[in-house]
Amino acid sequence: MDLQRIAKTTTGFPYMRLQQAQQLAVRFVEWQPENILEIGTYHGTGTCYLAEMVRERNGHVTTVDLPWTATDRMNRQVEQQLEACGLDNVTVFRRDDGAEGLMFEHLVNEKPPFDFVYIDGGHQWAKTVPQFCLALACLRPGGWILFDDIDNEKYPEVGAVWQHVVPNHPGVIETQECGNWGFARRA
Ligand SMILES: C[S@@+](CC[C@H](N)C(=O)[O-])C[C@H]1O[C@@H](n2cnc3c(N)ncnc32)[C@H](O)[C@@H]1O
Repeated sequence: MDLQRIAKTTTGFPYMRLQQAQQLAVRFVEWQPENILEIGTYHGTGTCYLAEMVRERNGHVTTVDLPWTATDRMNRQVEQQLEACGLDNVTVFRRDDGAEGLMFEHLVNEKPPFDFVYIDGGHQWAKTVPQFCLALACLRPGGWILFDDIDNEKYPEVGAVWQHVVPNHPGVIETQECGNWGFARRA
């Protein structure tokens, strides 16, 4: 695994940072996720880190975002970032109905559960609560959800979900905090 190479190749494109990716890679040694869902792709920097982390064990990343705006189209896109990083273990979705629509289809079509879901798209109460519930339903027992921005004054509603919904949900058996990241484990 070469996270430094991903950092160099994705330089200048937010959001996941090398230090965060390194912390996550330490957790992945124990958790061994193979099938990952990322909610919120943006330029695909997080996507590249996740794909690199699971590449050597033939893991796969599914990433989903809303359709791009005209401004976004002028920026480097996930497909270019993946190509530049030499990664081919990712499926990219851009949907009008976002991650919620993707997870609905995943469940009704009884697709294999994910081992890990990274919630980093929406950042509002009305999006984050259903994303969390759907992510739990899409996860295998013992799988983990990662919330970005649990302690970001720009996104207080993510913090509210983390504080008031996640710990009270009977489907969650463990939580961990690491700076702005919150991890929740499915029962
Ligand atoms: C902070 S960026 C994602 C960064 C990326 N995960 C990373 O680590 O590099 C948030 C993205 O979430 C997307 N988004 C917002 N609502 C969404 C939804 N309902 N489903 C999927 N993506 C959504 C936005 O369009 C935006 O591109």
